[in-house]
Amino acid sequence: MSDDAKRRALAAEELDPSEITTSPDGEPLALQPIWRGDFPIDAPVDQYVARRNFARLLVLTSGAFVAGQAWLAAKDLVRKRRAPPPRITIATLKDIPVGASLVFHYPTPRDRCLLLRPEVKLLVAYSQACTHLSCAVVPRMSEGVLHCPCHQGYFDLRTGQNIAGPPPRPLPRILLTIEGTDVIATGVEERMV
Ligand code: FES
Repeated sequence: MSDDAKRRALAAEELDPSEITTSPDGEPLALQPIWRGDFPIDAPVDQYVARRNFARLLVLTSGAFVAGQAWLAAKDLVRKRRAPPPRITIATLKDIPVGASLVFHYPTPRDRCLLLRPEVKLLVAYSQACTHLSCAVVPRMSEGVLHCPCHQGYFDLRTGQNIAGPPPRPLPRILLTIEGTDVIATGVEERMV
């Protein structure tokens, strides 16, 4: 029998049986899990909660709290030191005629984005992940919208603004620059409104 089980058996022996509340499973105190011995229902048994166990619990919870704070601080530091967004050539002007759209990946190969050209002089690009639950939005060039088929969300194609349905905010905009005939992605603009 473990030390804790012995201690609880002794505690149970020293009490008047009428003072001991039956545990929900009906098993004797000696067979109960350790936590039930440390936090008993009966006040008389309460005096047997070992100070050492209580101190251990306090140390563990404090340690977990400190570790959590340290992890958050480290994450924040890493985020601040993160490298600037990459410059990636995503297309040439020839690849994207007026009225066309094109899928590319930015800033990582896992991030799908859309390059759109609604007018000769207007090139826009957005993350393809809907801001509701991340379904892929689909351009409807003739209607001037991006449609999310999952829950009928709509975004303005020229601005990426959420205009109907459940999406709570605009699509992240991919910043573009044109050099010669190259279309280059230079960053991601997250927008809350
Ligand atoms: S995931 Fe796009 S509207 Fe729900």
